[in-house]
Amino acid sequence: MQLDGLLKTTALVGAILWSGSTGAAEISIFCSSAGAELELCQSASDAWAKETGNTVKINKMPANWGEALPLYQQLLAGKSGDIDVLTLDNIWVGALAPHLVDLKKKVPAEELSAHFEAALADSTLEGKLLAMPWFVDAGQMFYRKDLLEKYGKPEPKTWAELTETAKFIQEQERAAGNNDMWGYVWQGRAYEGLTCNALEWVASHGGGTFIAPDGEITANNPEAVEALELARTWIGGISPQGVLNYDEEGSRGVFEAGNSVFHRNWGYVWGTSQAEGSALLGKVGVMALPIGVEGERSSGCYGAGLLGVSKYAEDVEAAVSLVRYLTNAREQKRRALQGYSPTLKALYQDAEILAKNPSLRFAEEAYAESASRPSQVTGASYNRVSQRIFSGVHNVLSGKENAEEGLSKVSDNLERLKKRGW
Ligand code: GLC
Repeated sequence: MQLDGLLKTTALVGAILWSGSTGAAEISIFCSSAGAELELCQSASDAWAKETGNTVKINKMPANWGEALPLYQQLLAGKSGDIDVLTLDNIWVGALAPHLVDLKKKVPAEELSAHFEAALADSTLEGKLLAMPWFVDAGQMFYRKDLLEKYGKPEPKTWAELTETAKFIQEQERAAGNNDMWGYVWQGRAYEGLTCNALEWVASHGGGTFIAPDGEITANNPEAVEALELARTWIGGISPQGVLNYDEEGSRGVFEAGNSVFHRNWGYVWGTSQAEGSALLGKVGVMALPIGVEGERSSGCYGAGLLGVSKYAEDVEAAVSLVRYLTNAREQKRRALQGYSPTLKALYQDAEILAKNPSLRFAEEAYAESASRPSQVTGASYNRVSQRIFSGVHNVLSGKENAEEGLSKVSDNLERLKKRGW
């Protein structure tokens, strides 16, 4: 289909979404501020307000998403009516579940079934749909197509090949006077983003996901040790020492300034690096993350952006109306043109989107091959679990411990958490 049909339905929905007659509502929404997010979220929310006669108040999430969760928890624990709609990371659903409206009863079934089933499953707990899928993500590798061509290097298939190519091009470029050039920038700060990066190295080496879906702790194994030992060699080699303090935006800044050959990030970097006026316009390629060893999967970390409604919203119906507007086909298409992968199946057949956003060509496969963080099995404790993982990995990367010591401590710390019931 159906896209035409979908778009028509959506336009109709726009007109009937708001049928409340209790007077105009003011809806307060938390929007992400990374990349083009804030502008996209704000303009769409304003359009909804105009169409429905309501008003909307935009709140900026902290640039580092990890800092948003404690803020949400604090506001929701106080049953604050100051927050109606929340942009959520898929790994927070367990932690925020008691405070979120079950949308299954609020959104028509035919609207829900247009989304990927996996995206709906991801925000469903105990039969309740706690948030609407908005965009999906998996870690991807961006690279300087122009430099790979210049030096006759193919897209690397394995992390070892990436290491070699990055080193080679970095050395050549520096010898040619480009002193700021690095081989590879990624997210090495001790935060959620590092858990994602580490999961990708380890899973693509066949070393699992730290905790298996059944709750078994698998963090310490030879493949994981090998993966971390390789990553450790990058620090001060193909990656600047500063990478140990980079998050998504910090590392993107280095890449988009033209100072790195490879860059691991989420899909949105296609939009920012290929925007009008970008120094890298036409010079960037995107590919699935490398594998560790032959026969393993690429294993991009699975992430997703969702929209939830607070149970303490003064006007739940108006808040739901905004969420439906933001997640509809017209909006998801507008976002897809800027690099955000939709959760609506039909948009993956849309020629205009595919022409503008090449990463969508392998996106479906990338999502199928992605590796999930152990957030379902550890539920509300996932944040603590992830903290044990990224601290341990950070210690290894910064040379405080070798990979075997580091992972053995991660494993012990996770066992302790598990004994307490996560
Ligand atoms: C992105 C992902 C999210 C992840 C975060 C880590 O926002 O969508 O799932 O937790 O990055 O920094």
